Amino acid sequence: MATGIERKLAEPSTIPQQLEDRPLAQKTSAASLYGWVDERLGLSDLVAFTRRKTVPVHRQSFWYYWGGISLFLFLVQCFTGVLLLVYYRPGAEAFESVRQITFVMNFGWLIRSAHSWSANLMMFSILVHMFSVYFMKAYRKPREFGWLSGMALLGLASVFGFSGYLLPMDELSYFATKVGLQIPMAIPWIGPIVAGLLRGGPDVTEFTVQRFFALHVVVLPAIFIPLLVFHLWLVQRHGNALPPSEEARPAAERKSIPFLPNFLRKDLAMWLISLNVLALLASVFPWALGKQYDSLSPAPMGIHPEWYFMSPFEMLKLLGSFLPGEAGEVAGILIFTLGIVLWLLIPFYDNTKESGRRARAAHYFGLLAVFALLATTLISYWTVR
Ligand code: HEM
Repeated sequence: MATGIERKLAEPSTIPQQLEDRPLAQKTSAASLYGWVDERLGLSDLVAFTRRKTVPVHRQSFWYYWGGISLFLFLVQCFTGVLLLVYYRPGAEAFESVRQITFVMNFGWLIRSAHSWSANLMMFSILVHMFSVYFMKAYRKPREFGWLSGMALLGLASVFGFSGYLLPMDELSYFATKVGLQIPMAIPWIGPIVAGLLRGGPDVTEFTVQRFFALHVVVLPAIFIPLLVFHLWLVQRHGNALPPSEEARPAAERKSIPFLPNFLRKDLAMWLISLNVLALLASVFPWALGKQYDSLSPAPMGIHPEWYFMSPFEMLKLLGSFLPGEAGEVAGILIFTLGIVLWLLIPFYDNTKESGRRARAAHYFGLLAVFALLATTLISYWTVR
């Protein structure tokens, strides 16, 4: 006769397959623990949902991983950032505390190097993700909010980068921030107010570090994290978009894999590869710390911001060179802002599944953006040498 436990196990269950495959003794304790948690948190609903979720498989599926890679690198940022926070001291002691982290604390150099490299890799993967989403036309109905929230995340990630760059207060970060803050200054009326507010005075000083620090560790995460949750929730709601080439195929010929465990396993493999790339870069090329800044000394040669700001700086410079003086600077900012607004509004222009004139125009606009980004980055590096 079947025992109570055996009868219970014979019932159709909602327990994940991994638990089902275990030996009997383990299975009963794991199952009862799962049952206990499930009763309180409704895990079965989540398991049932993830089992239903599928991810399309086609020639461009590789690009589906870049959002996940960006997410992973953001998690690395949070983890290493909290560790740095243990010893970092903003304000007048900023440089000294980073010197101690780099040269005195055990593995401080590695954590700092991982944080800085991961920030750069994250910006790179966000850009790859943005362009792949763009060329797969994943911004079209009903994913407009995915596109807009993504653009807001890119904007915030750039401000994360800009504010973090100043925190060591070495020569490079000091002068690059000084130059960077001159850009908002060119915007009539509000520019000087914004720049003054960020600097905490007429010049970049310890007060500026204090403000950038508050922005970097409190204000930005408080906006970024809820926005990221919204962005990920949208992906869950709408699923992954099909590129137009797949959309054109008959539904019966399209392939897909379950999200759990198949896609998740591949996603995790990509995270592991990213972690390896990060570990290699952070340990083989440790992040440098320059000389302490000196506001009285002249700016050294070759001062430049991080690579992802080189293109916008160069674009502003080129666009502004058509008119002399301040008018040129303002015109540069206006044309640049117009380009960004057009990029933001693309889901409302190319908004049908058709491959007509608008779809082609959006495609060429995307190619132009990639070309402009690469060309201006190269020109910019060429000219700062
Ligand atoms: C920290 C920044 C970001 C993170 C962590 C992130 C994360 C993700 C993840 C995990 C996905 C699902 C998998 C995928 O399709 O890759 C996704 C999808 C998407 N993302 Fe992002 N993303 C970020 C920034 C952006 C940016 C800058 C844009 C564009 C402006 C964007 C637009 C989209 C869109 C439209 C989708 C839906 C794609 C589809 O349905 O196939 N995201 N994002």
